[in-house]
Amino acid sequence: MAKIKKIGVFTSGSDSPGMNAAIRAVVRTAVLYDLEVVGIRRGYEGMIQGDFTPMNRKSVSNIIQRGGTILKAGRSEEFKTPAGRKKAFEQLKSQNIDGLVALGGNGTFIGAKDLGREYDMPIIGVPCTIDNDLLGTDFTVGYDTAINTAIEAIDKIRDTAESHDRLFIVEVMGSDSGLIALRVGIAIGAEAMMIPGTRSDMPALFARLEMGRKDKASKIVVVAEGEEPGEAFEIGKIIKEKYPNYDTRVSVLGHIQRGGKPTCMDRVLASRLGVAAVEVLRNGHRNEMVGLIHNDIIGTSFERSIKHNIDLNTDLLKVVEMLSL
Ligand code: F6P
Repeated sequence: MAKIKKIGVFTSGSDSPGMNAAIRAVVRTAVLYDLEVVGIRRGYEGMIQGDFTPMNRKSVSNIIQRGGTILKAGRSEEFKTPAGRKKAFEQLKSQNIDGLVALGGNGTFIGAKDLGREYDMPIIGVPCTIDNDLLGTDFTVGYDTAINTAIEAIDKIRDTAESHDRLFIVEVMGSDSGLIALRVGIAIGAEAMMIPGTRSDMPALFARLEMGRKDKASKIVVVAEGEEPGEAFEIGKIIKEKYPNYDTRVSVLGHIQRGGKPTCMDRVLASRLGVAAVEVLRNGHRNEMVGLIHNDIIGTSFERSIKHNIDLNTDLLKVVEMLSL
């Protein structure tokens, strides 16, 4: 097994709060182990174009508290093709990069899996997405910040909903997983939830709303985003038709959930996983994601981390149902 001397780090797909803390951890750990580090800007697109920048301890100063990613993120259609991955590999080799740390979610790890299968390039992933939808980690970097941002926003909506005796339909992000909606729904005391599996079940939603206390001034229905953002407007229309007496409003929280200062939980998670990623890469691991399960750092192959349907925790679902009436 050849010793790794120079690594590349990049952020890809959607950004998530805490990515900067993870970049910092990767760079500083690499420096501690005498590895050279190169930042690859704009994810796989930048890898194809050779958009590389040398990094050192100083290049990651004062970023642990910042949202977004200093390396920039994004998706690449070209990298999905074998020709795109060939170009990317050639760029890496021209810089003598012999290992990669990939920060991102499902799309990032699908790309990493393909590159690692086709070329001799060890890659370790750090789960960074607000959606929390990867197998092999209890939480992803960015999830905690996103749910706290959503809670803060919905608490404000509750104030105005209560003043006007209104019913609000609030759509949160989370891709098709519903994991943001589930926790946020509990934390804001939602009267009803629409999450994958139940989202199109309007009769169940009506039953839930009718079961609720009649003396309660405001009601909030938390809706997980579907295929397309904005489905909450459709749901709002249907509710208005069924209950013309409710004063109904719709609010789609959108990308506000992706920004902002990472919470303590996210900074610590990003730092731990960033350190672990470099350590396992040095120890000869490849093509796996490092995650935290029951507070232990565990490696999970890219293949396994991305190909799954994460079941919604039925205990959490039960809590919503028990407490929302
Ligand atoms: O994966 C993170 C996420 O914010 C999802 O929750 C959402 O569906 C998607 O990205 C939005 O992507 P974009 O920023 O391209 O609109």
